[in-house]
Amino acid sequence: MDDATLMRPLVTVSYAQTLDGRLATSNGSSRWISANDSLRFAHKLRASHDAVVVGAKTVRRDDPRLTVRHNVEGEDPIRVVTDSLLRTSLSAKVLANGAAEGTILAATENAPDERYEEVSALGAKILRLPGDPDGGVHLRSLMAELHRLGVASAMVEGGATLITALLRERLVDRIAVCIAPKILGRGIEAVGDLGIHDLERCVVLENISLTTYGPDIVLEADLAYCDE
Ligand SMILES: NC(=O)c1ccc[n+]([C@@H]2O[C@H](COP(=O)([O-])OP(=O)(O)OC[C@H]3O[C@@H](n4cnc5c(N)ncnc54)[C@H](OP(=O)(O)O)[C@@H]3O)[C@@H](O)[C@H]2O)c1
Repeated sequence: MDDATLMRPLVTVSYAQTLDGRLATSNGSSRWISANDSLRFAHKLRASHDAVVVGAKTVRRDDPRLTVRHNVEGEDPIRVVTDSLLRTSLSAKVLANGAAEGTILAATENAPDERYEEVSALGAKILRLPGDPDGGVHLRSLMAELHRLGVASAMVEGGATLITALLRERLVDRIAVCIAPKILGRGIEAVGDLGIHDLERCVVLENISLTTYGPDIVLEADLAYCDE
């Protein structure tokens, strides 16, 4: 499935980082990097997308609801978790108390059947997708499947592993990063290795807008990839 044939949603990656590019402390704590004003921006962004996508470790670490709140009007997007082996807890907020009805777990064919039964019994949709060479979900297949399900726009909220994998696959069209006026030093870096060794091959931001929300700066831009 190459870029020319892949039918997929428009993908926006959004996260909050410190000035020195950290998503979380080295023990994984990321609450609350951004201030309240920019949290509202993030919820507006959620409301403007058909789906919100996060990695399984973000669900395990933060247990987010991934709903639209903070006095923002609009419908909750479909929640999508990349969870190869369906290890998301049945009591996670994306599954418990009826939330499962609006949640898709993207798994691989290696996910155990008994987990499949347990999670689908709650009402969640499970996609069994091909695996990638690292055992994760094949992201192009996930995007193609979301498109087939009618998802025209997807907001990816992290964490770093998923963001990095999507950037590496050139599956990100836009970025909306909240930069908090904080310096953390060691911690989880927002974007890991993209295999870029030459500055001329870096991903370039275009059509940039900068907005301040209280003490935070939100940078929104389109991404441009160099020719391979
Ligand atoms: N500051 C922010 O805005 C923000 C936002 C979100 C998260 N965070 C922080 O980020 C941390 C979690 O990030 P993380 O990097 O550890 O994990 P992550 O990106 O949330 O989740 C990665 C996991 O997703 C699953 N996955 C399945 N297929 C994948 C694929 N093709 N590519 C990538 N992942 C795939 C894998 O788990 P399985 O093997 O179980 O499938 C993988 O380990 C937490 O500390 C959280 O607080 C911060």
